[in-house]
Amino acid sequence: MFWLTIRSGFTFQTKKMDGTKVMGLRNVSSICSLSEMDDHDLSRLLDKPRLNIERQRSFDERSLSELPMILTRGSYDNYEGMHSPCGRSGIDTPASWDRNSFDPHPIVAEAWEALRRTLVYFRGQPVGTIAAYDHASEEVLNYDQVFVRDFVPSALAFLMNGEPEIVKNFLLKTLQLQGWEKKVDRFKLGEGAMPASFKVLHDPVRKLDTIIADFGESAIGRVAPVDSGFWWIILLRAYTKSTGDLSLAERPECQKGMRLILTLCLAEGFDTFPTLLCADGCSMIDRRMDVYGYPIEIQALFYMALRCALSMLKQDAEGKDCIERIEKRLHALSYHMRSYFWLDFQQLNDIYRYKTEEYSHTAVNKFNVIPDSIPDWIFDFMPTRGGYFIGNVSPARMDFRWFCLGNCIAILSSLATPEQSVAIMDLIEARWDELVGEMPLKIAYPAIEKHEWRIVTGCDPKNTRWSYHNGGSWPVLLWLLTAACIKTGRPQIARQAIDLAETRLLKDGWPEYYDGKLGRFIGKQARKYQTWSIAGYLVAKMMLEDPSHLGMIALEEDKQRKPMIKRSSSWNC
Ligand code: GLC
Repeated sequence: MFWLTIRSGFTFQTKKMDGTKVMGLRNVSSICSLSEMDDHDLSRLLDKPRLNIERQRSFDERSLSELPMILTRGSYDNYEGMHSPCGRSGIDTPASWDRNSFDPHPIVAEAWEALRRTLVYFRGQPVGTIAAYDHASEEVLNYDQVFVRDFVPSALAFLMNGEPEIVKNFLLKTLQLQGWEKKVDRFKLGEGAMPASFKVLHDPVRKLDTIIADFGESAIGRVAPVDSGFWWIILLRAYTKSTGDLSLAERPECQKGMRLILTLCLAEGFDTFPTLLCADGCSMIDRRMDVYGYPIEIQALFYMALRCALSMLKQDAEGKDCIERIEKRLHALSYHMRSYFWLDFQQLNDIYRYKTEEYSHTAVNKFNVIPDSIPDWIFDFMPTRGGYFIGNVSPARMDFRWFCLGNCIAILSSLATPEQSVAIMDLIEARWDELVGEMPLKIAYPAIEKHEWRIVTGCDPKNTRWSYHNGGSWPVLLWLLTAACIKTGRPQIARQAIDLAETRLLKDGWPEYYDGKLGRFIGKQARKYQTWSIAGYLVAKMMLEDPSHLGMIALEEDKQRKPMIKRSSSWNC
C-alpha cells in the first residue's frame, strides 16, 4: 500500500551507506504510484527477504533514491495520501524529492566510523556493540557492555548495509547465555530469560575470551529485562527477512530459544487480562517510573514478538502447542489493546463522562476508572483528530502518558489498526512541539513533577522533570519514528525529524538523551558517543533512502484479526 513499483528500463548506481560499495545497472521506464497498489504489493514488500544490499534487487524493491527524475511532487502526494485520505499536514513537505535529498550527509561517514569503534569481539568474531564509547565519562558503569535492546539498531544498520554476520553471531551468543542458570540471590529465574547485557573479558596472558552476563542480578534495581527476549525474537526475524537465510531460525536451538521465551509469557495463572504483567523498569525505561503493571512498551513488543515467532516456529511436535497458544493470545491481546488502551478525543470524552461502581457484565466502565483521576494536561494535549495507545491500563488506573516506543512498535507490528496508525501519526504532527521540539524524540510525555515525582520515582535525581526517562528526548527513537512514518506513508515527517537531528547530533557527540521541554539541552548525565544514538540515526537514513528495508522490521495487518471496533469520530475527516 505504501511503496512504489518500478517497471522496466533505467540505469542507476548506488553506494553502501558507509560509502564503500557501488552497485549495478537497472532500467526503468515507468512507475506506478502508491495509490495504484493494493495490499498484495505491501505484503510482498514486507515478506520479501533482502539477501543483502549488493545482490541484484528485483524491480519492485528499488529505492526512491533510484527514481530521482521521475518522482514528482504529484506522485509524492499520492504516496503520502495512502493512509491519510483526508488531506493533512501542518508539516512542510519538501517541494520536490530530488537526488540531493538522498545524498549521504557528511555525518553519515562519521557515524559509521563511530559505530564500528563500538564493535565487541569474542574469540575473533564480532558479537555486538557496546552501549557507549565515552572516554570522557568518569563512570563507565555498565555502558561498556553489549545491551540486547541497544544492539537492535546496530543490528539493523549492519543488516541494511549487507553485513549480517555480526547479527547472526550476536543471536547465537545470546542464545547460549539464555541457557545459563540465572539466579538473583537465592531465587532462580525462568529458563527462557534473556540477558539485559553481556561483557566480553579478554585475558591477554592466557589469550582467552570469557563472557559475563547480567540478567537483572547486577542491574540497578535488580529487575530482569522482559524486553530482551522479545527483541531477540524480533531480531531473528529481521535477520531472516534481510538475508533470506531460513536455516538460522530453523535450527533446533533457535526454535527452542523462542519457545522458552514465550513459555515465560504464555503460562496460564491468575491473569484476567491477556496483557503481560510486569515490574517497573523491565524495559528501555529501566528505572522506577511508574511503568509497572501493563506498560504499553512491553505489550507492543510482546505482540510483535508473538507475531514474529508465529512466522518462524515449526509446526512440529514441540512447536504445535506453542503456536496454538500464540494464536489464542494474539487474538485476545489485540482485542484488549485496541479496545482499552486506545485513546482519542471521542474516547477521552466518554471516559470523562464515565459512571463508576458498575457491577456485572453490562458495565461500560469496566476497570472502574474514576473520571477525577484524568490529569488536566490531557484535555489540552488531545487533538480533535489523532489518538494513541496510552501508557498503562489496570483496575481504576489509566496512565495517560504518551510513550514513543510502544506507539511506534504498535504501528510496525500492526497491533494498531490502519486507522489507529494514521491517528498516531496525526497526533505526532499535531503535537510536534511537545513530542519532537528541537530534538527527536520524547521517550514519554509529559514529565512527572514535584510531589508526584517524589512518589513515582522515589526522588530519583536522574529522572527529574524533562530529563532522561522522565520526558527526556532520545535520538535513538528516530529509527522507530522513521519506520512508522514509512509504514503509514508519511516519510516527510521522518525527513523533518532527521533534519533536526542532523543539525546537532555529531556536533554534540551523539548524546544518549537531551533534556528540557523542547529537548534543547544535552542531557544532564547523558553519555556521549552513545551507540544506539549513532545506529538509530543511520537506520533512519537508510530506511528513508530505501524504504524496502522496512520489511525486516514491520508486519502487515493480520487479516484474521481485523478489528470489529467502530471508528470513533477523530478518525473521520
Ligand atoms: C540506560 C537506558 C537503557 C539502556 C542502557 C544502556 O540504562 O535506560 O534503556 O539499555 O542505558 O544504554
